[in-house]
Amino acid sequence: MLLHSITFEKIYQTVPSSSLEATIQLSNNEKKSAVQNSPHQTTASLRYGEVQFWSFAAILSRVIGSAAKSESVVHRFYDLGSGIGRACVVAKLCYPTLQVTGIELLPGLHSMAVAASTQITVIPAPPAPADAASQKVTGDAATATATATATATAIRFINADFFAPPSHSPPSSAAAAAATGAGASDPSTHTEPPEWTRDATLLFIASTAFDSTLMNRIARCCELASSPALKVITLSVALPSSQFVVVWSDKYRMSWGNVTVFYHERKK
Ligand SMILES: C[S@@+](CC[C@H](N)C(=O)[O-])C[C@H]1O[C@@H](n2cnc3c(N)ncnc32)[C@H](O)[C@@H]1O
Repeated sequence: MLLHSITFEKIYQTVPSSSLEATIQLSNNEKKSAVQNSPHQTTASLRYGEVQFWSFAAILSRVIGSAAKSESVVHRFYDLGSGIGRACVVAKLCYPTLQVTGIELLPGLHSMAVAASTQITVIPAPPAPADAASQKVTGDAATATATATATATAIRFINADFFAPPSHSPPSSAAAAAATGAGASDPSTHTEPPEWTRDATLLFIASTAFDSTLMNRIARCCELASSPALKVITLSVALPSSQFVVVWSDKYRMSWGNVTVFYHERKK
């Protein structure tokens, strides 16, 4: 884990202007036009903050277990609002076989996440020194070099609203509109469930700045998600859904202070 944390710091040292202060500034600069383009979005919900390596690695370890254990299960991890990709990079470094996707609305933050992802050297678990050096992930859609243990692929970063429907989705249905909380006649909202509802098994939502409207909408999408074993991690506020139960909640350190983390599973 120490090796992963050193790798993590090194990755972000290569990404220009990725300090917390510079990223908050960039986010503030981009918020205004993002809100103009997505009227349902508020500037408050776009407030930037970020996970710290050790906190997020500890949260994932509590949810997923050891890296070796994770290889027996196909986890599809999504970070809804992925910022400069820090949570995704922690997840990929600690769990190379995880399928990791980050969705971020602000283009500047998204570009930094892509830049970080090009620097990842996937370290299989247990690490095999001869193999680790050969597994350089080279980009957004690149696949990690195949080895006996590495089934990992690169992180996928998407520059979009995390409520956006999948591209080439069929025409909207009233049921889907109701499920997503979106009004079919409201052009500012999407009426098809987002792509992540199709395959996500583990969601992370840094939801501290999200209002109740946004959280309700996320909750409806989670209820609609295909995976019966969907697990959801939220920050500061629990998922407002009777279909999910909080398995544990605890304080962890984030860039904006000590934050309550809620871990949910679907009710059986
Ligand atoms: C508190 S930051 C968390 C960043 C990252 N997940 C981390 O923990 O390091 C929340 C992020 O969500 C993004 N965001 C908010 N609403 C969004 C939406 N509807 N679609 C995509 N991104 C969104 C913001 O721009 C911001 O970068």
